[in-house]
Amino acid sequence: MRKPVIAGNWKMHMTCADALQFLDSFVPLVSGTPTDRHIVIAPPFTALSTLAEKIKGTSIKLSSQNVHWEDQGAYTAEVSPKMLMEFNTTYSIVGHSEPRKYFSESDEQINRRARSAQAHGLIPIVCVGESDHQRERGEEERVIRRQIEQGLEDTDTNKLVVAYEPIWAIGTGKTCESKEANRICGLIRKWVGTSDLIVQYGGSVKPSNIDELMSMSDIDGVLVGGASLQPESFARIVNYTNQ
Ligand code: PGA
Repeated sequence: MRKPVIAGNWKMHMTCADALQFLDSFVPLVSGTPTDRHIVIAPPFTALSTLAEKIKGTSIKLSSQNVHWEDQGAYTAEVSPKMLMEFNTTYSIVGHSEPRKYFSESDEQINRRARSAQAHGLIPIVCVGESDHQRERGEEERVIRRQIEQGLEDTDTNKLVVAYEPIWAIGTGKTCESKEANRICGLIRKWVGTSDLIVQYGGSVKPSNIDELMSMSDIDGVLVGGASLQPESFARIVNYTNQ
């Protein structure tokens, strides 16, 4: 039984004060959410501590937006899995297309991050997805398969989440058509070879398309950027119905 993971990726948004204000509105809106889904927030590193305190007693889990592979060392600007564990972090996003694009993250680095996360008891959310050019050239399957093979090498595929995020759908308002998102999510599960693998879709998920996305047989949750920044819209997404 695959339990969907609904995760809000706040990216570089939200001070601690903003995050507290968000939770004041959000927590009551999800107090009656069915327990058949996981609710996750990935705040900036600076808000993890504040949120960790505030979500005690709720069903909300925390994710980091990245994680380094070493426990400590001379890695300016990085955060280690050991540090994240101090704040009861459950998940770590790795391989998001933004660090891939802006900081030239490679599949090899992403793999090291994912393996280290698992070694410390964190569940990596490994993001994969093709660019618009790659899709125009019909290369999406080859690109995603390579990201999967290299990014997941030597990981425990029973203890991770894969997020299919077509780059052309991120922050653009252009959602991937739900049938196509479903097809790719199914292929990813087949390539990984783990029938219980949780595969999320991400890219312009919003209150108006969540129910349709979650009614798809191979989509086990969503990774939400922009629409996770307002308590009402993220609560609507968390409270999806797939009947
Ligand atoms: P978006 O971002 O929902 O704003 O498109 C998704 C993501 O980057 O994870």
